[in-house]
Amino acid sequence: MSRLSSLWPLAVLCALVGVGLFAGCGDEAVPTSSGDAGTSKPGDAAATDEDPATADGNPGSSDDPIDLLDEDDEHRFPSAAQCGKCHVEIYKEWKESYHGRAMSDPLFLEFSAEVNKEECIRCHAPEPLREVGFETPIARAERREDAVSCLTCHQVGQNVAGPSKGMTGACQPIHDPAQTDPVKMCFICHNQHDTGNEWMRGPYAPGAPEPRQRPEMNCIECHMPEVERPLVPGGPVRKGRRHTWFGGHSLYQLQKAAKLEAEVTPLDGGGFRFRAWVTNVGAGHNIPTDARHRSFDVYVKLTESDGTVLLDPLDFAQQAKSQVAKYRLQYRNSGLKDTQIPPLARVSGLGRWNGYIDVPAAKKGNGELWFVYRLTPRDVLDERSFKPKNPHDLGNTQVATVVDVLKFTYGE
Ligand code: HEC
Ligand code: HEC
Ligand code: HEC
Ligand code: HEC
Ligand code: HEC
Repeated sequence: MSRLSSLWPLAVLCALVGVGLFAGCGDEAVPTSSGDAGTSKPGDAAATDEDPATADGNPGSSDDPIDLLDEDDEHRFPSAAQCGKCHVEIYKEWKESYHGRAMSDPLFLEFSAEVNKEECIRCHAPEPLREVGFETPIARAERREDAVSCLTCHQVGQNVAGPSKGMTGACQPIHDPAQTDPVKMCFICHNQHDTGNEWMRGPYAPGAPEPRQRPEMNCIECHMPEVERPLVPGGPVRKGRRHTWFGGHSLYQLQKAAKLEAEVTPLDGGGFRFRAWVTNVGAGHNIPTDARHRSFDVYVKLTESDGTVLLDPLDFAQQAKSQVAKYRLQYRNSGLKDTQIPPLARVSGLGRWNGYIDVPAAKKGNGELWFVYRLTPRDVLDERSFKPKNPHDLGNTQVATVVDVLKFTYGE
């Protein structure tokens, strides 16, 4: 037992005094709109992790506290891969998640290249949340390749905090109600752009006015779906949660966010006005939320019944004209109005966007509204946007993604 106390000493932050107060998280780093491929490569730091599948040991079988560190390992923290020796599935999910990749994500490497990295690292590779009382995160000196690591969210002194009571295991789990509290677990990093507050004042929050428009749902419930499985191989099946945190990089998560509607009205003198309506039906916060470089864009495609294409977003000469809306949290230095969509709000044009296009030449035919997502402003909309290489992880391909297409008809 006493041996364990030397493993996870509580001594916090050495090199960290004087870290700047707020780091902009790439706010002012407006990427170019050229569309050419970036040159940065995924960091290979994570490649030094051990593969838990090949690591020896007898996962989960012992209740005796064990050394999570090698005797000769000078690191203060056990690595996530060491947790993964027993928590095999959770480790695999985390490793592929953007928390596991927050220090190797090519976009992060690119945006943090020319700034004081320490300011960025405090959220991308932080000390355990409990060591800062769930307040301002501070950068970790060790094992930065583990990014937002298991210990960031679970370490409490020499134990790991979990949602359950009375569990035993080599990691010495203890129950801590804070583990299921989204304000403690998520806001510390996800409220710098107001995502937490957007949820708090919205229809999914515990304090939403009666009669409720939506059942209570929090960050953890939407982003860590429930799953029944053993926590360690051979252990009892339990209710737990996936450590995937699907967000803007998952087509399936994006598809839950919005509902499209088309409104067609005749114009005096012929032709039609085509208006798009977008309702945030599935996100607990504004869409898009958090990172300022995201956007949801709406385009209109029109084909007359004789086959003439009047408006085609894939025709680069017409692409700008065919766009009727852009929803985003603007860069701070842009001078533009924010045009995010709050939960359950139904909007058309916002900011400098009309939400509609007038087409006097339109007589009768088929229309489409395209709901397009851009991870960064430089993402190009083209044929590839309809078939993402990996819908679970859109990656840093610099290609926009068509999230939804609504078909409608116009004319007699
Ligand atoms: C207060 C915590 C915090 C700090 C400080 C911070 N970030 Fe972030 N960063 C986040 C969170 C949370 C996200 C996820 C937001 C999202 O997905 O919309 C993120 C996402 C990003 C992304 C998007 C990655 C992607 O795949 O699209 C980039 C790039 C980024 N950060 C760069 C930086 C840079 C550069 C700095 C330092 C100037 C920085 N961050 C500082 C919390 C932080
Ligand atoms: C030697 C195997 C082993 C290692 C290594 C290990 N754990 Fe555990 N852990 C267990 C076992 C066994 C349980 C109890 C599982 C059960 O009863 O279903 C457990 C339970 C937990 C719980 C409590 C779950 C709850 O529902 O409350 C958390 C959290 C946890 N582990 C996190 C970690 C973290 C983080 C690490 C790395 C620092 C880690 N574990 C390393 C075996 C291990
Ligand atoms: C210690 C800081 C920190 C904490 C705590 C944290 N996150 Fe994150 N989160 C990040 C960073 C940093 C990123 C972006 C990493 C990147 O893309 O480079 C991120 C990304 C995400 C994403 C987006 C994934 C994507 O597709 O781009 C979601 C969703 C998310 N977090 C949800 C949560 C939830 C829910 C919680 C609370 C249980 C939480 N996070 C707690 C820092 C944090
Ligand atoms: C961004 C924060 C975050 C990170 C990173 C994280 N967890 Fe968790 N984890 C949670 C939260 C929140 C819960 C509780 C969810 C609930 O029950 O409401 C949880 C639950 C658990 C549980 C309980 C059983 C279950 O399936 O819910 C285990 C075991 C666990 N985590 C292990 C790990 C391991 C191992 C890692 C690293 C590979 C890790 N966690 C990384 C936030 C995190
Ligand atoms: C009712 C379900 C729901 C709730 C509650 C919810 N989210 Fe989301 N979240 C979504 C959906 C759907 C998306 C995809 C749309 C988008 O990216 O804006 C998303 C996207 C995200 C992203 C990805 C943004 C990006 O740029 O990639 C982050 C980060 C995030 N949520 C964090 C949180 C946090 C933190 C909370 C709690 C304060 C929370 N979410 C509550 C459904 C939810």
